Amino acid sequence: MSVRIIIGAQWGDEGKGKIVDLLAKESRYVVRYQGGANAGHTLKFDDKTIVLHLIPSGMFNGDSRCVIGNGVVVDPIALVEELKEVQEITPNLDNRLFISSSAHVILPYHKVLDMVKEKSRGSDAIGTTGRGIGPAYVSKVSRVGIRMEDLLNEEILEDKIRKNLADINKAMEHVYTEPKLSAAKLLDEIRPAIEIIKPYICNTSELLHDALEDDQSILLEGAQGSLLDVDHGTYPYVTSSSPTAGGACTGSGIPPLAITHSLGITKAYCTRVGNGPFPSELDDEAGKKLAKNGHEFGATTGRPRRCGWLDLVALRYAVRLNGFNELALTKLDVLDDFETVKVCTGYKLDGKEISYFPLNSNEVERLEPIYRSFDGWMSSTRDIRNFDDLPQNALDYIRFIEEYIGVGFTIVSTGPKRTETILR
Ligand code: GDP
Ligand code: IMO
Ligand code: MG
Repeated sequence: MSVRIIIGAQWGDEGKGKIVDLLAKESRYVVRYQGGANAGHTLKFDDKTIVLHLIPSGMFNGDSRCVIGNGVVVDPIALVEELKEVQEITPNLDNRLFISSSAHVILPYHKVLDMVKEKSRGSDAIGTTGRGIGPAYVSKVSRVGIRMEDLLNEEILEDKIRKNLADINKAMEHVYTEPKLSAAKLLDEIRPAIEIIKPYICNTSELLHDALEDDQSILLEGAQGSLLDVDHGTYPYVTSSSPTAGGACTGSGIPPLAITHSLGITKAYCTRVGNGPFPSELDDEAGKKLAKNGHEFGATTGRPRRCGWLDLVALRYAVRLNGFNELALTKLDVLDDFETVKVCTGYKLDGKEISYFPLNSNEVERLEPIYRSFDGWMSSTRDIRNFDDLPQNALDYIRFIEEYIGVGFTIVSTGPKRTETILR
């Protein structure tokens, strides 16, 4: 039995979808525990490319049961669109998809609020994905949220939506000077989606507790990344949930002592999409080359991702936050034609050398990275399947990272496809 959390160690898009899909084959359950359709997890197998936003990445490799946990915020309309795509490959979802009755619902007003709040922030905008994530978690913690269970009772749903809209419309009119929203129209808009997803709504914490009792293996699939965590990330330039290890427990109902493995995923370099500090960001030719080689465009919004060298100080911070006892290195192949590869091993903050990741975003903004350079390997790693067959310079690079952070890579990914992977 294993209960393994899989968490992005950077600012998201580390390749979580690929790794979860790969490991799903050996797992009875794959569980999303936070975030919503802001996530975009890409899977490539059998010449197919699929981008999942809400559905766990365990649908296509084996027959694991995919659970959308209580910590996720679910947009019913986005979910139904995604179901259509998934069902082209896996038509029968009986016993394959389970949605927590306690998960919160993203309603069209959350997306409107996301947009108007970003607009009103002006140059301080966070650069959200516009999927209504922040406002939905605000509804949740202010205890006016609508949960999946409410979708099962039209009377309760309508009552709650009307009460919420009465409040929201005051803000629309007087704060944001935007048009008011109509409850009747909103209900008409979401009703067809509700009918489709109703059969999947259930008590997933009981399901998972039974699975634990039966010694079943479980993968907990994080969305976003450690540095986007609402508590531990580069606040306020973060998402509104907890992608880090603690969030996996609260977002699924699985107790901490049941977790057997904590697997962190890092790219061989760094990316970030949206605003906020990024110490090792490059605005030179090397940065452009990383973006080009890595096809660095957001899987959800299509926005170009900012690119930079791997930041080992930030990675070590993520290791400590999540207690990673194994790591996956992805996109190593993106560095294949770089003559020189650099990693950030420390910073200067206001002229003073430091070796920790500051919690204050203004300080992170002022960091000057200190780099160590490596000779590139200048050959393709794409078809390599054994770790020891990697070029010597790539091995030196990888071993330096392992030594610096004190955790080993059990998986090295050298291409987007499921098969382009080295298992160590
Ligand atoms: P996620 O959000 O963490 O699941 O990652 P995304 O799917 O948003 O972004 C990762 C991108 O890199 C996707 O387009 C993947 O297909 C791709 N990818 C994953 N692993 C590798 C790899 O090892 N090499 C290359 N070249 N691409 C990869
Ligand atoms: P996956 O799971 C990368 C970023 C947004 C923005 C900030 C807040 O694919 O790795 P939000 O819409 O969550 O309120 O936006 O977080 N962001 C992501 N960046 N990958 C993601 O998900 C992200 N989800 C949100 O760009 O900076
Ligand atoms: Mg992504």
